[in-house]
Order: sequence, then structure tokens, then C-alpha cells
Amino acid sequence: MKILITGGGGFVGSYLCEAELAAGNKVVALDIAPPVKVKELLANPNFKYVQGDMLEEATLEPLVAETDLLYHLAAIADPQVYCENPLKVLRLDLEATQLALKLAVRYNKKFIFSSTSEIYGKNPKVPWKEDDDRVLGSTHYPRWSYSSSKAIGEHYCFAYGRNNFKFVILRFFNFYGPKLDFVGQGRVMTCFLDKFIKGEPVEVVEPGDQSRCFTYIDDGIAGIMKAAHAPEAEGKAFNFGINVETTMLELAELMKRIGKFKSKIVIIPAEKKYGKGYDDIFRRIPDCTRAKEILGWQPTTSLEEGLKKTIDYYIIK
Ligand SMILES: NC(=O)c1ccc[n+]([C@@H]2O[C@H](COP(=O)([O-])OP(=O)(O)OC[C@H]3O[C@@H](n4cnc5c(N)ncnc54)[C@H](O)[C@@H]3O)[C@@H](O)[C@H]2O)c1
Repeated sequence: MKILITGGGGFVGSYLCEAELAAGNKVVALDIAPPVKVKELLANPNFKYVQGDMLEEATLEPLVAETDLLYHLAAIADPQVYCENPLKVLRLDLEATQLALKLAVRYNKKFIFSSTSEIYGKNPKVPWKEDDDRVLGSTHYPRWSYSSSKAIGEHYCFAYGRNNFKFVILRFFNFYGPKLDFVGQGRVMTCFLDKFIKGEPVEVVEPGDQSRCFTYIDDGIAGIMKAAHAPEAEGKAFNFGINVETTMLELAELMKRIGKFKSKIVIIPAEKKYGKGYDDIFRRIPDCTRAKEILGWQPTTSLEEGLKKTIDYYIIK
């Protein structure tokens, strides 16, 4: 089977390329960035890396035309960018998704859409099932550009799906692991790690007891592979996440203990990290009954176990 992965050079994409190759498929990764995270795969004759912009239809169209299945992963997934450059988020997470969908429909290709736990917004009634409400803040707050873009992408999937378009929606809950982001950039773990490595104070955004469910990448990839290839998954959305809550302070303390780091852990105002008007989500917990019942999927990696592998990777590098 031929597989196309937009964002195939990113964190999740790099693991997915590996998993699809291991499953005996031919993989094309399209990514605007150089192939740093997939460099071990470049010698594989079943793997092709196309460094290009998926917003350019002339680049994307021939790749979609040739594939059997399209994973659309390319997106801005960094919370700081949602706040600093919401236009960039809308351009990629919404407009590029529209383009990928249009081409997948035109060439009748199965479409696997990487959505997000962010689409539930700040619905306080956790854990969230797939059909639960979305509770969002004002459009005045740029952080909702990400959640809204992904939700519109999901609406397109369901709308095209009325005409026999095959799709699966995957909502990831804080995947992490080796190769997550470059140290000092991106998501919370690599930001904490930067400070720990430098011995500087680790800055936890106030109040510190906001929680996330950190899901190890190997568990996530196992779920994605099942959902993408099981006919029973078609036309549905799935939560993929562990149901163990960890507060930001607990995360920082656990990382400090595992890495035997010396940094102090301090609380900082949200404004210092995200600028004015950051509208945080305090709890974000998945109910993955659907993935368990339909796909037989359950995450098994504890945060301690996953963090050891993650910290080892970054410290050895
Ligand atoms: N990692 C998570 O925990 C998580 C959680 C929820 C949702 N997601 C979603 O999963 C997907 C993958 O996330 P990730 O963690 O691998 O993010 P990532 O940032 O590591 O990967 C995204 C990739 O998209 C590429 N890209 C950006 N602009 C592009 C363009 N114009 N053309 C082609 N490629 C482009 C980037 O270079 C990057 O390699 C995203 O859609 C994200 O929204 C991830």
C-alpha cells in the first residue's frame, strides 16, 4: 500500500513513517522542514522524503494522486505560536487542511486527520467522550485559532463523508517521547528540559495545578495504525490518550527526579510565556472507551517509564 504523510518529518509523523514502513508499506513524507527526525529512514528504498510546502497545490496534488491513503499531520502544534502568530495557525491548520481534503476527495483517497484534544476547549465536564460539547473562549483570544481550525477540519470530514468519502479523525492527547521538539522550543516537556539542562529555574505557568494526560508516542502510534487500517474505524472520531492526569508542577518535579536535575521550579504568570489574555484549559482528560471497544486499543506506558526514555534521548544527544 502507498502512504502519504503530510508533516511526515515532524514528531508524530516520524514515528508513523517508521511504523508504516515496518508494516510493509511504501511511504512518502511531505514536510517543509529538513528530514532531521527521519534521517535513519532515508536509505530505505520504500521511503521518500519530499521537502516542500503542502500549501502549494502543485506540490501536493501529484503526491495525493499517487497514494492509497493520506495522513494529514502537518500543522502548527506549538501553543506559543497559537498566541504569537494565529494567522500562521489558520493558514496551515485550516487552509492546508481544506486543500488536502479537496484533493483527497478529488482522487478518492482515504483521509486520516490528526485532530486534537484542544477541540473540547475548556469543557469542565471531564473525562471527554468523542461526542461531548466543545466549550471555547472568545475569538479575541488567539489560542482558540488552533482548536477552531481543527474543528472545522473535522466538520469537513463529516460533511464530505456524507458522499462516501472515507475518513478517520484522530484526537491526540499530549503525545510525548524522544524527538518531540527541539530543546527549548515547542511543547512543555522540551521547554522544561531546556531549563533543566542549563541548570536555570524551570518556569511553570501559573497556577501549576492545571493538568494534562501525557501519552507516550509508542502507545499513540499503535492507536493511529489500528484506526487508519481498520474498516470499522471509518467515518468516526477517536480520542487517543491515557486517562492519568498529571499537573504541570508534578511533571516538572518528576522530570527533575528522573533526570537528577538541580534546577529550582518556579511559578510564572501566564502573560510572561504567552502574552496577554491566555485562556488556559485546566483539565483535559480523554474517555477512550470507543478506541478500546472498536479497536482494542489501550495505552500501557506510565509517565515515569516514558519520561525516562525521553530524557535519556535528549541527554545522550
Ligand atoms: N503531539 C501531540 O501531542 C499532538 C496533540 C494533538 C494534536 N496533534 C496533531 O498531530 C499532528 C502532528 O503533530 P506533531 O506533534 O508531530 O507536530 P510537529 O510540529 O512535530 O509536526 C508538524 C510537522 O508539520 C510540518 N509542516 C509545517 N508546515 C508545513 C507545510 N506548509 N507543509 C508541509 N509540512 C509542514 C512541520 O515542519 C512539522 O514537521 C498535528 O496535526 C498536530 O496538530 C499533536
